[in-house]
Amino acid sequence: MKPMKKIVCCLLAILMTAMLLPLSVSAQTSPVLRFNEDGTFKIMMFADSQDDENLEETTLQLMREALDTYQPDLVVYLGDNTVASGYDNQHAAIEAITEPCVSRGVPFAIVFGNHDQEQGVEKEDLLAMYREFGCLTYDADPDLYGCGTCNLPIFASSGLKIAFNLWLTDSGSRNPDKEVGGYDYVREDQIEWYKNKAATLKALNGGETVPAINFQHIVVPEVYDAMGYPKLPVAVGDVTTYLGNTYIPVPKFSSHTGISLEPPCPPYVTAGQFDAWVETGDIVASFFGHDHVNSYTTNYKGIDLTSVPTVGCNSYSNEINRGVGLITLNENDLQNYSYELIHMYDMALAEGSEIPNADGAKSTVYYRFMKLVDKLLTAIHSIFLAMPVIK
Ligand SMILES: [Fe+2]
Repeated sequence: MKPMKKIVCCLLAILMTAMLLPLSVSAQTSPVLRFNEDGTFKIMMFADSQDDENLEETTLQLMREALDTYQPDLVVYLGDNTVASGYDNQHAAIEAITEPCVSRGVPFAIVFGNHDQEQGVEKEDLLAMYREFGCLTYDADPDLYGCGTCNLPIFASSGLKIAFNLWLTDSGSRNPDKEVGGYDYVREDQIEWYKNKAATLKALNGGETVPAINFQHIVVPEVYDAMGYPKLPVAVGDVTTYLGNTYIPVPKFSSHTGISLEPPCPPYVTAGQFDAWVETGDIVASFFGHDHVNSYTTNYKGIDLTSVPTVGCNSYSNEINRGVGLITLNENDLQNYSYELIHMYDMALAEGSEIPNADGAKSTVYYRFMKLVDKLLTAIHSIFLAMPVIK
């Protein structure tokens, strides 16, 4: 490249960064998320707390003890967060579920689930309540379908470089098209926004894709192919019919780790969200709530799909896999992250835990029994994983 051309290119790159950086930083709400000096960044997930203004003491105590034990840098509430009736009760419920983060000064963000807006309060009003308590989620473009779709960059441990990106996506409630039915899906305009924003981040990063994790409530329908659910030759009914295929609701054992105690419940249709992830190439993993008793992780076309089971003790669930999800990012290896489910039974059985003393708690004997059941199920799953004929 000729020297003059090189200089012009450099000036253009600086100009472009100068133009784009303020946009990016202005969208970033205080506090700025940044990798720690040791290169880690921990994200804890609370899925489907799904309770009203009288939040279960056990749920609250689980949140508190998980935060104190693991000291995350960010918490993401994965939707179906509150189901109190009316404005005042929803406000009180939001105050209750965010209190463990607020009182500890832990930054937090939310996505909405299918139930949040079913209690007579619009999502825009709910988001305003969350932001009153310091929530980082914002409505990046109020014209987009839904509410609260946005991104949160994580900066490098030093400097102004955006090292990693978090997408918070509103996956809607029920599909308003009664002919199609089922759960809602991420719409074309949200996908276009995602693609454009990812391109902006890439430009800011000197042309290199910024790796990212996506958080949304409702799982994508591609999970059925990811987990190898057998397809019937013809579509039958609509209970397990996704993207035109009907599946027998038993997953392939080798397709996932963790436990799947109910068939996933994605929307019946898609506007191409998963394909956009593959095409854009930034998303390392996506985490979902919604299916309260599933704790699987599967991989499809290079993207991990993980269902985080409920943290809540006031909706359908069990003690086998209730808990909180914990992601640990490593600044020196951004394509690889670690994930673990922190089980409620382990938190309750930890020395000094107040969970067994909370109102509505089970006995320690019960928690031990559930731990045993979980270990047995995991051991049986491991045997199947090791058998070539099952694979
Ligand atoms: Fe839920």
